[in-house]
Amino acid sequence: MKKIGKMGAVLALTLSMVMLGACGNNGGGNTAAKETSNAAAEASGNGGTKTEAKDITLGFSQVGAESGWRSANTKSIQDSAKEAGITLKFSDAQQKQENQIKALRSFIQQKVDVIAFSPVVESGWDTVLKEAKDAGIPVVLTDRAVDSKDTSLYVTFLGSDFVEEGRKAGQWLTEQYKDAAEDVKIVELQGTTGSAPANDRMSGFAEVIAANPHLKIIASQSGDFTRAKGKEVMQAFLKANKDIDVLYAHNDDMALGAIQAIEAAGLKPGEDIRIISVDAVKDGMQAASEGKINFIVECNPLLGPQLMQVVQDVVDGKQVEARIVTEESTFTSEQAKEALPNRQY
Ligand code: AHR
Repeated sequence: MKKIGKMGAVLALTLSMVMLGACGNNGGGNTAAKETSNAAAEASGNGGTKTEAKDITLGFSQVGAESGWRSANTKSIQDSAKEAGITLKFSDAQQKQENQIKALRSFIQQKVDVIAFSPVVESGWDTVLKEAKDAGIPVVLTDRAVDSKDTSLYVTFLGSDFVEEGRKAGQWLTEQYKDAAEDVKIVELQGTTGSAPANDRMSGFAEVIAANPHLKIIASQSGDFTRAKGKEVMQAFLKANKDIDVLYAHNDDMALGAIQAIEAAGLKPGEDIRIISVDAVKDGMQAASEGKINFIVECNPLLGPQLMQVVQDVVDGKQVEARIVTEESTFTSEQAKEALPNRQY
């Protein structure tokens, strides 16, 4: 690690604390903080000086390999690091928070320039994030957020707005059943318990469907974002509940597992049970184009290029936004059919 890069990184972390503090206090109006940060960046001797990518080491702790989305996200990060020339130390946590904490501590010991990670769950990060801060290593959250009250513990959060994704799913459903005269029985396959996407997709969906009292969630359980668990939990839902109208799955993989269970029960996915899912990975889009999934809310896994840019900026002591939201769309079956041939992941 080059000394100048480290200085810039520490500066970026400090500046981001100023920026986050400014936003938190008055919801904006942070011009003064911006000016301060630019002046300080100049003073550091690193303002305007680009650290060579080959001198930057990024430690990245990934959630695991639980879904098609996750595999596409991992590939995007590995490919983008290679392309940018940034040295990547990659660690797979196999969906366990303790593994991620170990990985983060190991990155601190190795004195990487920047740590990035996609937290398995939202809570329980303050101690290790404080250790990174004390070591002067900036942390970038990608894909998933943490619930730490102290926002100075990380530089930025780059990823989707999961609450909005849940709302989009709810809006489509509300529109489909706007004239319903009877109760609509919904089952929900939640993502990993305690994870940001599970919490937020649940709350965004619930918030929107509350407008129609006929839309009733009769069962809701975690399928851990995997196909196998999605199938298993759907089998249990089918056993315990008669006449399920709708399945809302927090990701495509669980929806795909559930489709197997629905077909095995002699029912037609997409017709007997309407299905909404999130992600829009190729397998999900394929099922949607065949009419087995009725509506998919996109969650874009291709965060690698933006992450490398943020890492470079942080090392260079440039100002970064405290929150970078990914742009995403939605797909009906018809739209999925059209988009499928050009789908990258
Ligand atoms: O955090 C993003 C979520 O994690 C994706 O929607 C899901 O497929 C993945 O496992």
